[in-house]
Amino acid sequence: IATKSADYFTGKRVLLRVDFNVPVDDATGIVTDSSRIKAVLPTIKLLLQRGSRLILASHFGRPEPKKQTRQQMAALYSLRPVAALLQEELGSGAFRGLAADCIGPDAEAAVGGLQPGQVRAVLLENTRFHAGDTANSQDFARALAALCDVFVNDAFGVVHRDQGSVTGITSFVPERYPGPLIRRELAELADRLYDPVRPLGVVLGGAKVADKIGVVAALVEVADVVAVGGRMAFTLLAATGVSVGSTQIEEDWLEPCRHMMSRAAERGTRLLLPSDVLWSSSLERPEHLDTTGVTPLTLDCCRYGVDIGPETMDTFRRELLTCRTIFWNGPMGKFEVPEFSAGTVAVARTLDEASQSGAVTIIGGGDSVAAVTAAGLSTHITHISTGGGASLELIEGKGMPGLRTLLRTESQEEQ
Ligand code: 3PG
Repeated sequence: IATKSADYFTGKRVLLRVDFNVPVDDATGIVTDSSRIKAVLPTIKLLLQRGSRLILASHFGRPEPKKQTRQQMAALYSLRPVAALLQEELGSGAFRGLAADCIGPDAEAAVGGLQPGQVRAVLLENTRFHAGDTANSQDFARALAALCDVFVNDAFGVVHRDQGSVTGITSFVPERYPGPLIRRELAELADRLYDPVRPLGVVLGGAKVADKIGVVAALVEVADVVAVGGRMAFTLLAATGVSVGSTQIEEDWLEPCRHMMSRAAERGTRLLLPSDVLWSSSLERPEHLDTTGVTPLTLDCCRYGVDIGPETMDTFRRELLTCRTIFWNGPMGKFEVPEFSAGTVAVARTLDEASQSGAVTIIGGGDSVAAVTAAGLSTHITHISTGGGASLELIEGKGMPGLRTLLRTESQEEQ
């Protein structure tokens, strides 16, 4: 879009798909890490300067419109905290606020309020309040597309999703373009992750357990070292017969995990699991804290694994420092509780140390980026990506539906 003529966007209704899926403090409703918003601000400002009538669309979290009422979803997953931040960044002269919906009368009225000649932006409410976004329904995509003349996708964090506001919409808009952030991310990530300098180490953690265990299986096939912490590590540990106390695991994945571990052994991938764990009797606050080596012996009831222990931190550090490329996605424990954050901070330090000795280091995913930024350790990291799942899928070598549909040529469409 930067190469379009100066007046190309003037007066046009431009729908910019962004990834505003950012961490928010539940108690205060304040965005706790704004990296993803800041990364796309230059695109927003460019489109405003070019005189477009700007419509911002994003998902936020994973609401369940088939199970939750609109009120319940709005209480948990509204983009209101993001709108407050945009107000500060853009000022009320440029930003008109949050529309109550992303399609239908409220969205149409908000977009109708962006008069030609005015340079103003509006943010649409969470696209996932409609089941048609995640399900990629044609009706949803068509309704969203009807709001705009041009579609620009600069949401690198969701290019791996085949969803209405990412891929579906491209079939109904006359013009569509990738934004500068997507171009920059691909320039930084594609070669480094598709064809990495080896050994390649990947550190995985976080709470999106069901999502990511499949990713571990794929990474075992491509990486040299795979270190797993966070909640997902407990399903792998349980599959080896270790007692995980009350920590939530995915029963359905126990067998695939065993298969994955034997694949790692066959292929020679070093799959590292925690050898010691910090336990707490509450997930929300430190209670009866205790660090123990993992064991098959039954633990007392109400013990939750909340972080990796010091021995695991040492092992992860030693193994990762042998790698020439390291990718990290997901915290090692419930790091938002300070007492449970040591493992995550230790991984941040290891990446900092590896970067300073010449390794390529890449961090993707909101929580890992927040942890590294909070620890003041972001300076030497080679690239901090706005994509968590998206960059993981790049390593796996998967296609990106969001890019494929965006870059589809007209002749391909005719076929
Ligand atoms: C992310 O946080 O990785 C992106 O915003 C995608 O979110 P999702 O995994 O809920 O699709």
